[in-house]
Amino acid sequence: MSVTVPQASTGPVDLVGRRVRVKVPATSANLGPGFDTLGLALARYDELEIEATDAAAHDIEVHGVGEGEVPLDETHLVVRAMAHTFSRVGVEMPSIRLVAHNTIPHGRGLGSSGAAIVAGVVAASGLLEGVVELSADDLLEIATELEGHPDNVAPALFGGLTIAWVTPEGPRHKKLIVHRGVSPLVLVPEHEMSTALARSLQPQSVPHEDAVFNVSRSALLIAALIQSPELLLQATEDKLHQNYRAQAMPETDRLIRVLRAAGHPAVVSGAGPSILVLASDPSARAEAVRLVEESAETAWQPLPLAVDFLGATVTPVAD
Ligand code: HSE
Repeated sequence: MSVTVPQASTGPVDLVGRRVRVKVPATSANLGPGFDTLGLALARYDELEIEATDAAAHDIEVHGVGEGEVPLDETHLVVRAMAHTFSRVGVEMPSIRLVAHNTIPHGRGLGSSGAAIVAGVVAASGLLEGVVELSADDLLEIATELEGHPDNVAPALFGGLTIAWVTPEGPRHKKLIVHRGVSPLVLVPEHEMSTALARSLQPQSVPHEDAVFNVSRSALLIAALIQSPELLLQATEDKLHQNYRAQAMPETDRLIRVLRAAGHPAVVSGAGPSILVLASDPSARAEAVRLVEESAETAWQPLPLAVDFLGATVTPVAD
């Protein structure tokens, strides 16, 4: 990463009083065959206001999802991501006052940790405006260092459909605009799933024919999402991760089979346990909701969500 730190800022940088508003979308990663590569930004947001202060400690307030559950000190994920960003650019982090209004469900495969990391990285870059300039690649690199894989943080940062890949120089991304006929539906169960557990269920190597299977489907999926939604059912087939993880989320697995048998392009959202249906029109989305209501043994919340085309935004707030 190469960042621009102006000469005048090599001493202590006074950021006290700077305030930014940050909005970050939910994301669904993998999209079936695109394991650790493809991601989609969805119009459901965490919104935060962050101010640099001269207080002795951070002052953190969380409303909505995570209220009363997430830590309110320097171990809060947004604060950790800010601290990591400041440390990467070599500027001392000030104390902050942070107020978060969260709506992205936690532990459900909708990129809540990626959103928190992106919130911290873009908040830091917003507070550092004029002091340090971070490029899009820099933001992706810093966020990926914390998340471990780029497929949630890329769409959270840039919006739309993203292809993310890793190079020796760091992660890179390409943003694409999704066909207007694609109507995403997320079905969210009451229980959570740990991404670490899901990842531990995957084998170190896979049969060559399964790798070829996924290469063909993920290439097809790009065409289906940007141009030919009628191909989405075939394009969302996968042999790299979902079957290996099915034992840890049996109802997700069963409902996906029910939905797919009825022609709906349903996949595990991220590491699960939520289901993403890439419906090709709003009426198909309503049918998928009805089918899940009839077939599910537990409660599943349907979230019809538009694709977010903007990604994370950071706006300076004047007094
Ligand atoms: N690609 C990741 C996985 C997304 O499936 O493990 C979840 O963070």
